[in-house]
Amino acid sequence: MDNRILLRMCKMSGYEMQYINEAFADEWVVPLGPNVTGFEKELEAFLGDDKHVVALSSGTAALHLGLLCLGVEEGDEVMVQSMTFSASVNPVRYVGAIPVTVDSESSSWNIDPELLDAAISDRIEKTGKKPKAIVAVCLYGMPVDYDRVMAVAEKWDIPVLEDAAEAFGSSYRGRRCGSFGRFAALSFNGNKMITTSGGGALVCPDKASARKAMYLATQARLGYAYYQHEDVGYNYRMSNICAGIGRGQMKVAEEYIAHHRHRHAYYREHLKGIPGITLHCNPDERFDSNFWLSTILLDERLKVKGQDKAYSTAITSTVGGAGGVTERGDSVHTDCEPNPNVEAMRLGLAEDGIESRPLWKPMHTQPVFRKYPSYVNGVSESLFHRGLCIPSGPYVTDKDADRVIERIKSLIED
Ligand SMILES: Cc1ncc(COP(=O)(O)O)c(C=O)c1O
Repeated sequence: MDNRILLRMCKMSGYEMQYINEAFADEWVVPLGPNVTGFEKELEAFLGDDKHVVALSSGTAALHLGLLCLGVEEGDEVMVQSMTFSASVNPVRYVGAIPVTVDSESSSWNIDPELLDAAISDRIEKTGKKPKAIVAVCLYGMPVDYDRVMAVAEKWDIPVLEDAAEAFGSSYRGRRCGSFGRFAALSFNGNKMITTSGGGALVCPDKASARKAMYLATQARLGYAYYQHEDVGYNYRMSNICAGIGRGQMKVAEEYIAHHRHRHAYYREHLKGIPGITLHCNPDERFDSNFWLSTILLDERLKVKGQDKAYSTAITSTVGGAGGVTERGDSVHTDCEPNPNVEAMRLGLAEDGIESRPLWKPMHTQPVFRKYPSYVNGVSESLFHRGLCIPSGPYVTDKDADRVIERIKSLIED
């Protein structure tokens, strides 16, 4: 690898080829087979809560099937955390339901339980109908405040679909994220805690719902030689080759999780005392984030070198993992963007080959979702204006972190 320090990138453990070779030797190169079953079992043991896991082609597919398993239909409303990646919300539209976005609390950065409670009450008053599901997201690995969110869900008797795509290995009161909701989605995309190159899983509460998810993921075929179809199905199963990569990754999952936590602890130690920079940490002892990404907030009064010219040119290259398939925006500015000092910090780090990225832009501010109801308190927008994700993956060494820290310091105006 060159001198660049990337935000996050999965690392092969060396065990993957063993499983892939076995799959080739046995000619199991289809979306089922021993690696798929083995990977699902390993995930169930990892989650440790008597769950049933269905391995799928992506975390987005898992969220889609989770909504279908919860019976979410066209015209239903689904409460969704606004501060998240778009994949938490897109599947709500796939099923024709209406996403109702809910803002975050400032401690965990995840869905605000009090606002959620008030929003549900308001939706029932306005529509005469109870929302069908709650999608709560563990942002950057930080657990949702499950005590309070589950209490709201129970009060209204609305199931939770956990989006634990970024939270593999995080826990709350000693229990793994992905085991709290009625259903949960995991992601094994190439940038996540562990990867299958691309993939995900739906965590189900029982065998019957796992069978239903698997049925829908396999084109909803009924058992006739000519296939009878009574439901619309999807091609969402994970291939036995990808699952082999996943099994190889499971061998080092704990090591990777420990590495991300070490990375965060190191930043915590060394960013301490830099005025105007705040690292996001576990709010209290109930939370144990995997720190999939370490994130910082820049005080808006902090002066960063070059901030006057921060938005002077449009982005011409792709940002992040979209690998050349993002469409170009047609303006330098949008009506909701990170503060100039954050953009200047991102550009200043990039000049030294250090990748960083703004926080997820809240979904209620995204043009595609703006037309749907939203309940806001200003927290997610304020975080988005001030936040930056800094390099955290398994390739980022202490020496790299030193370079990141020194560069941050050097970009701050005296
Ligand atoms: C919060 C969140 N939800 C869902 C997803 C979707 O996962 P996938 O890329 O596996 O479809 C991602 C990651 O991409 C994510 O970060």
